[in-house]
Amino acid sequence: MSQFRLDASIRVEGSHSREIADIVEHEWRTAHPQSPVVTRQIGIDPVPATAWATAVKATFVPADDRSPEQLQALALATAEADQLIEAEALLFAVPLYNFGVSQHFKTWVDLVICDPRMRSGVEPATAGKQAVLVTVRGGSYAAGTPREGWDHATAWMRRILTDVWKLDLKVVESEFTLAGVNPAFERFKDLAQQIRAAAEQTAHTHGRNLAGTIRV
Ligand SMILES: Cc1cc2nc3c(=O)[nH]c(=O)nc-3n(C[C@H](O)[C@H](O)[C@H](O)COP(=O)(O)O)c2cc1C
Repeated sequence: MSQFRLDASIRVEGSHSREIADIVEHEWRTAHPQSPVVTRQIGIDPVPATAWATAVKATFVPADDRSPEQLQALALATAEADQLIEAEALLFAVPLYNFGVSQHFKTWVDLVICDPRMRSGVEPATAGKQAVLVTVRGGSYAAGTPREGWDHATAWMRRILTDVWKLDLKVVESEFTLAGVNPAFERFKDLAQQIRAAAEQTAHTHGRNLAGTIRV
């Protein structure tokens, strides 16, 4: 029994997504002190950008004719997929970058989908697994805000994790993480603290659900 945790933040210190995901992980460790947590730091140890295209092309080449680079890319897809498939509980921590999905998360997802057990259109090997997605945003894209609709990451991540990989997904969201950093958001500092506190509470709840100590 193990938990798989993926972090896509490009920083380690001061990372909101890591701190909130730490709460989820803590609930797992408390409930399962003997169980390992397998970590994948794709924000600081990314999948090579060329791996996906190489792996895709390899699938059109007879197995015996594949180049060493193609074999290496397919082996990497298998290894990344194995980490997901072998874990009982999955935790993803992914910030919003440039109004879209983290390039490191997209590259990793694309490569995992190259694995025949995880591709779109088949019953994925992860079907029914419990998962938590922690996602954070520097600004706010809530209904009625000037940039409502500019977050092009969260909906995509939900589609992949819920509909393609068929995970039983819970989502923890925090916004205005740049309040107190970006002067334009100075007046939203109190609101940002409230949003963060609510996210931490939700992280505890979803962490316990992921650990199997409660059902929500
Ligand atoms: C290069 C870069 C681009 C960013 N783009 C956005 C953005 O488009 N929208 C937004 O709300 N926040 C954006 N942010 C802010 C991050 O989402 C925010 O700082 C978040 O807290 C980062 O996650 P972390 O705290 O886990 O590192 C960006 C940050 C960086 C470094």
